[in-house]
Order: sequence, then structure tokens, then C-alpha cells
Amino acid sequence: MVNSHRKLIFNVYVGFYCTAIILPKICICSRFSMPSSDQFNQDPGAFPEATNGEPFPWHELRLPNTVIPLHYDLFVHPNLTSLDFAASETIEVLVRDATQFIILHSRDHEIMNATLHSEEDLRYRKPGRQLDVLSYPAHEQIALLVPEELTADLKYYVAIDFQGKLADGFEGFYKSTYRTLGGEIRTIAVTDFEPTEARMAFPCFDEPLFKANFSIKIRRESRHIALSNMPKVKTIELEGGLLEDHFETTVRMSTYLVAYVVCDFKWVSGTTSSGVKVSIYASPDKWSQTHYALEASVKLLDFYESYFDIYYPLPKLDLVAIPDFGSGAMENWGLITYRETSLLFDPKTSSAFDKLWVTRVIAHELAHQWFGNLVTMEWWNDIWLNEGFANYMELISVNATYPELQFDDYFLEVCFEVIKRDSLNSSHPISNQAKTPTEIQEMFDTISYNKGACIVDMLKDFLSEEKFRKGIIHYLKKFSYGNAKNDDLWNSMSNGCLEGDFTSGGFCYSDSKRTHSTLTFQGEDVEVKEMMATWTLQKGIPLVVVEREGRALRLRQERFLSGVFKEDPGWRALQERYLWHIPLTYTTSSSNVIHRHILKSKTDVLHLPEDTSWVKFNVNSNGYYIVHYEGQGWDQFIQQLNQNHTLLRPKDRTSLIHDAFQLVSAGRLTLDKALDLTRYLQHETSSLALLKGLGYLEMFYHMIDRRNISDVTENLKHYLLRYFKPVIDTQSWSDEGSVWDSMLRSALLKLACDLNHAPCIQKATDLFSQWMESSGKLNIPTDVLKIVYSVGAQTTPGWNYLLEQYELSMSGAEKNKILYALSTSKHQEKLMKLIELGMEGKIIKTQDLASLLHAIARSPEGQKLAWNFVRENWTHILKKFGLGSFDVRIIISGTTSHFSSKDELQEVKLFFDSLKAQGLHLDIFQTVLETISKNIKWLEKNLPTLRTWLLART
Ligand code: BES
Ligand code: ZN
Repeated sequence: MVNSHRKLIFNVYVGFYCTAIILPKICICSRFSMPSSDQFNQDPGAFPEATNGEPFPWHELRLPNTVIPLHYDLFVHPNLTSLDFAASETIEVLVRDATQFIILHSRDHEIMNATLHSEEDLRYRKPGRQLDVLSYPAHEQIALLVPEELTADLKYYVAIDFQGKLADGFEGFYKSTYRTLGGEIRTIAVTDFEPTEARMAFPCFDEPLFKANFSIKIRRESRHIALSNMPKVKTIELEGGLLEDHFETTVRMSTYLVAYVVCDFKWVSGTTSSGVKVSIYASPDKWSQTHYALEASVKLLDFYESYFDIYYPLPKLDLVAIPDFGSGAMENWGLITYRETSLLFDPKTSSAFDKLWVTRVIAHELAHQWFGNLVTMEWWNDIWLNEGFANYMELISVNATYPELQFDDYFLEVCFEVIKRDSLNSSHPISNQAKTPTEIQEMFDTISYNKGACIVDMLKDFLSEEKFRKGIIHYLKKFSYGNAKNDDLWNSMSNGCLEGDFTSGGFCYSDSKRTHSTLTFQGEDVEVKEMMATWTLQKGIPLVVVEREGRALRLRQERFLSGVFKEDPGWRALQERYLWHIPLTYTTSSSNVIHRHILKSKTDVLHLPEDTSWVKFNVNSNGYYIVHYEGQGWDQFIQQLNQNHTLLRPKDRTSLIHDAFQLVSAGRLTLDKALDLTRYLQHETSSLALLKGLGYLEMFYHMIDRRNISDVTENLKHYLLRYFKPVIDTQSWSDEGSVWDSMLRSALLKLACDLNHAPCIQKATDLFSQWMESSGKLNIPTDVLKIVYSVGAQTTPGWNYLLEQYELSMSGAEKNKILYALSTSKHQEKLMKLIELGMEGKIIKTQDLASLLHAIARSPEGQKLAWNFVRENWTHILKKFGLGSFDVRIIISGTTSHFSSKDELQEVKLFFDSLKAQGLHLDIFQTVLETISKNIKWLEKNLPTLRTWLLART
């Protein structure tokens, strides 16, 4: 960091605060409250202290908007041998209000020089003014102090020379390595910025609202290539053999979407029907796994251009498989980066589920090119506008481009997944406050992603496909290259504007008496904004209780809470002030018609047009609510499912199973009723419903197995094997059939082998031996690969062989399966070895440590081991990943949330308390504690029922 001259700084400060008094405009116009000079004189200590001891002129985490960036000229020269980079930038800024300092974000840079030119300086080639630089690391900010006040409404050019180290983790500008087939370790350099890490790569205005254009230049060696958001315009040869690539200037965009990669990768390319060049990049030995991604990304890009009626605005789109990657993928505009397993597809080792995963991740990141990149949320509190929508668009686009993947079935799981979290009191609203980088990272959670997507799906179902699409096209066109907030979306959803209206900037609604978010539903005005506010600003999920009295349906809405029973003293208080506008749907046993009704009040009554035996609410499970049928309701379904389950839609059968078991957790339905509901599953033909029912039974099995409740474990095991035997026996050890056939096959055979079903173990053992004998060359059907490896991993030679193969394998899909198999060993020392390898990060990469710990913690043998390891090595873990990172959150919840005893709860609580005492706090702590309490309560209440229910059936 440049050493500031103390005297000059002092002058600057006097100048700044005097100015503030004389021209209060400077302070008032700032979005944030500025300290007054009086305040400064009275209490200079109230100001943050820069690293050199000077007062730092800004005390907010958010930047002032007195100076805004327009354009960045960025030059970067990474050295992949010394692992550092030299860089420089010129930022063209517009001064909105006169000021004597510019605040920028910057983290871990050494700044060598900073100068400022006015437009006039440039015109007359005058030398720039030298700037003093102060640094305030706690806020990741620097202040550039200007000797003379910058004039409002003028443009200036800030030039900064800086250098830094390539980071070790997965953030900012970091190094990644890979192993070639020949065993050589090679290094590449790559960026990953979202949400707040662009500031690690270059000093910048690192907030999503500060959009600008970027012109990027990268210097590299000739053995490498450089990629960035835009296509390369030219390459300059420098003395000494270095090359410098110049990239076209980007469109207006946020800093978190800037990206560059220096690597030696190979690629495949194709062109979309509108002429966009799409390329998939991977390390040379993985090139052969790029073809599926190319096909999928071209198809999906074509789809989105036509669905959004907006061309993808860049001439090219690169998708790169990065060997070390923190999340699953990142949507950088024009240069999307992926974890290898999220992009590469190897027909020999990638399963049907892997294909679904790759397709969805591509669809997700491509959706962001519109939702997120073209239109960005104003601030991270509304990250769901990016993530919820991208998650939702996966459904729309994959269903249209790859109908055979039956993604809409998978989407049901997306909603079920988040309900677990959202039915705890520790949940939070979709739009939530977030200030610090950790809080911002925590916003990237299942609430933003999954609940966001599910409530959008509910809205689409309510509005109709056509209106919904019109609404999002309106939203995207209106806010292109800009930023938006929740209300902007809802306003767009309710009026069908014409093209011309978008540019006029006004809202368009035909009836002037209505507000711009009103729409008509069954002759009634509905406020979309008001309705959606109940879903985005309020946490939790509603429970709709239905009570039949002849043709009358009495409806009641409550807040659904799992783990808190109605008879508990705290229940009532937790219900207060919760009310949703629920777009209900229902069908009856007497017709296929889908009826609709909006439930806006606590209670309501509906009248059925005819007599029916049952009424099923939440048709196809499109709504984000749980339904409880009081009186005979559940019995009628049990009866119907047993008589002829096909009278209910497959998704309705699945959602009945889901809701029933959720209601058990909330103490509203007895476990034996829910179990009785699964008794028809022997005849079930829908993989979706079977997987759901099986999933719950398996979960209970693992819960009691971990607690060593052996009588129930044994009985449940026998029940499962006997009950599902007919379906297990019909499974072939092959890859035949649809994706869902494959998923069901994998789940059933895995269950059978997990439960030591002799024919399963035998078949898997045979296949494993053949595979070992063929030196790993035998092709095993991908659906059963994980099962075969897991059975093979139970002997020491098998385990060791798998570990060798792990190191050699060039397929991420295969490596994941092997690692999972290795983690199922019952030997503590083998599990410990895996953890050590994960910590070392060579054979098992650090990026896979979190899922490894999670996998180990699932088994009775591994649960304590993983948990103790996390507690004892917390500091090392935290050093590898940031506090709010996905990894730390997965490590914490993955190693604790299956606990179900009071002692374990106490242990976890103590650990969290010790972290809090160090100032470390995460939302997930409360989620975990509530989850464990819920498990304890579940066992207390349901174990006796489960025991008796099983005894009656064995
Ligand atoms: N924008 C995110 C990546 C991200 C995640 C940035 C967390 C910052 C914090 C990206 O679009 C994303 O959502 N990736 C997902 C994959 C997706 C298919 C759900 C991920 O990384 O898990
Ligand atoms: Zn995303």
C-alpha cells in the first residue's frame, strides 16, 4: 500500500470536513449519513482507523454514491510459476457530488501508485495528480484522497497500479491445479467473484448497482490461452515471448460478473441459430467429456432467446470446467465457470442423474445471462430475483428442450427440500437484510433458491403460462442493463404492456382505477404485489386445514411448524401475525376439473358442486403450502390409493405422501396413518411416488440405525426388504429405461445392498471383482456403479484399489462415486485417512472435503468421527473456506443435523456457543439446533408407534 504523507492527509481531512459544513449538499446527497465535522472534532475516534493510523473518511459498509464508475480498463498479468499477478487499471468515473475522496473496494492488494486525471488533463496531456491511498481492511475498502475537490458532474480517470498473490482458496483471482494422464501437475489461474470477491482481483466499486463497461487485457505465456467475458480482439506479441490478449469491451454489467481464466485447456465449439459461438473448455485429457455440454448449451441458449424474446447480447459464450471450484457453477457473463462434475459428461461413468444434473446446471447458468446479468437485483437482500428465477427457469427450459428428463418431476423435490428448512422457526423471509460479506453469502441458501423458484411456479400456475411469460419479458426488457427490486417484478407481472410501453418508462394498465399490480381473477381484482408480499416478506409456509361437512369445505390457514406441536405452550405465539394469500387449487373424485380459490383470510368456506368421496388440494403440488385433511380425509385417501391409486395424479400421490410425513413431524397426524398411506406403494408405478415413500422409510431406518435401536432397526429392515422385494427383484443391473427408471433402480438396489440383501451383495461383489480383474476397464452400468463400488469398498483390498483408481480417474462423475463408496467403509482408520487426504487437498481436493465429511457423518461408524474432527479442526477448516461459504455451511449441517439425542444437542450447542463467543455467527447454527430438537421430539413421539406398527407387520 502506498504510504500516505501524514501532513497531506491531515489537510485533506480538514478540507473535507470544512467543505461538508459549507456545502452540506455533499453530505446530504450521499445515500448514507456522513459524519459531520462537529462529530469529528468531538470524537475523532468514532471514525475508522486506516492501516497507517490515519482516520479513514468513510464508515459505512456500502459505498457512497458520490462517485460512480462508468468504465474500467483492466490489465492483468498473472505469473503461473510465482503465483502472483501484476495489474493496473484506469476507472472512468462520474462525480455526482463534489468530494475529496473516492472510496473503492479492495482486498489483499499492494497498491503501488494511484493517479487522477480530469478530462481536461487528458485532453491537454497534463500529468495526473498523485493520490494518497488509505486502506481500511475491516470493510475491504480503500480511500483515494484527492488534493483538490472533484467537481460534480465531471468525469475523471483514476489509474491504479497494483499487485497481489493468486489466492489459495476458491475466491477472487485464484490458482487451480490439475493432474494430466501422464501424472504432471499443471496450474491455471481463474476468477470467481460473486458475491463480494471482485475486490480481491482489482480495486473496484464492488456492489451490484454500480454497473459499468469493462475492457480487459491479459498478459500470458504462449503455452497458455486467456479467456474473458468478451471475445478477443487482438493479441500483441511482446519482447521476451509474452503475449497480450485484448478483449472487446463488455456491455454494462456488475463487477461480480467479470471473469478471466488463464489456462491450457482444449475446447469444442458450436453456433446457435442466432449466430452465438458457444464453446466448452476443459483440461486437455477431459476434452472428450465436453460434447454433451455443447449440445445442451446450444439448445438451451436457443430456447432462452426465443422464450425471453431477447437475444443473448454477446457474440460468444464460453463454458469452462474448472478443476478447483467452490460452488457448482458461476454465471459470469459470456464466460461461465463450472465445477467439472457440473459440466462434463462421460458416458462410461456418468449416470442418468449426472446427466440431469449437468443439464440443470447449464440451464441454470444460462438463465442467469438474463435473470441476473441483464437485469440484476439492486442489492443482495433480493438475491432470490437472480437465484430463485434461475432455479425456476431450469424447469421451464429443461422441460422444453429435454422433455425425456421429466424435469418437472424433479422440481417437486426442489420444493420439498426447502419446506424442511422453511418449516423451522429459524427460517427467514426470501427478501432479507444482508450487510456484511458473510451475511450476503448466507443469502445464497435454499430459501432464495428453492423457495424462490417454488413461489414463482405457484404464481405461474395462478397467472397462466402466457401471462407469466409476458410479465417476465416485460420485466427483462424494462430493466435491461439495469437493476430491479421485488416490486418491479410484481408490477411487470400484472400488466400486459406493449412494446412501446417499455421505452416510455411508464406503467401500462388499461383501467386507471386499478393500481399497476392489479389483475382480475374470477371477476375479482387481485393485487399481485400484495399477494406475493405474503410469500417474500414473510417467512415460513402455510398449512391449509380442510374439514369436510357434506358439500361444505371449511378451510383454515395456519403457519406450518415442524417440531412444534399445537399443544406446545409456544405454538400460539409463533402463529401470530402470519397470513398468506394462498392461490388454492383442488380436484375431487368426481371430475378432473381443477377448481381455484384464493384464500386470503384465516378461515373460509367453499361449497362443492356435487358429492364426492375425496377432495385433493394443491393439484400437482404447484402451490407452496401443506394440506391437512381433518376428520375422515386421510382415511379416504388411504382407501382410494389401495383401491385404485391411478385415480389420483402421480404428483398428487407424491404430495400426499410428502404432506402426511410432514404432518407427522408437526404432531398433526399419527405416524401409523402416514405409514398406512405408503402401504399401496407395492403397486405404485410412478417412480416419483415410490422414491418419495421409500425416501421417508429409509430416513427413519438410518435415524434409528445411528441411534443403535436394534430391535426396530432389524424389524424395519425386514419389513423394507420383504415389502419392496417384488420391485427390487424386477430391477435389472443395467442402464435401461428413462431417467426416472434409472433413479428408481439406483435407489432400490442401493437400499437392498445397504440392508445387506444377499442377492444384491452377491451381484455387486461379482461385478466389483470383474472390474478389479479388468484393471478398471470393465464398463459397469452407470446406474449401479456407486452401489458396486460401495460393496467393493467393504474389504481392505477393495478399498485400497478404489483409492488408487480415485487418484487415476479422469472422470469427476466416477471420482464422486468412488469417494462416496470409500466413505461407506466401517473402519474408522480408513475414514480418518480419507479426512486427512481431504485436508491435505492433493489426492482428494479441498473442494470435495465438505461432501466427504457429510458422507462420512451419515453412517453410524462415521458420525462421531466426522463431528469430532470438525470440532477439533475448526480453525483449519475456517482457513480453507470463508465463514459464510457453502462449504462451511455444508460441513456444519452435514456433520450435525442428523443427531437425535439430548446429549448430542448439548454438545453441538456448546460448540456453537464457543464460536459465537469468538464473534462467529451463522444462521445455520439455529437451523441445526432446531433440526436436532425436532429429531429428538420425533423419536420420543413416534418410536413406540413405529415399533408397534412394525410388530404388527413382521
Ligand atoms: N450464482 C451462483 C453461484 C454462487 C453461489 C455465487 C453462491 C455465490 C455464492 C450460481 O448461479 C449457482 O447458483 N450455482 C449453483 C448451481 C445451481 C445449479 C443451483 C451452485 O453453485 O450450487
Ligand atoms: Zn445461480
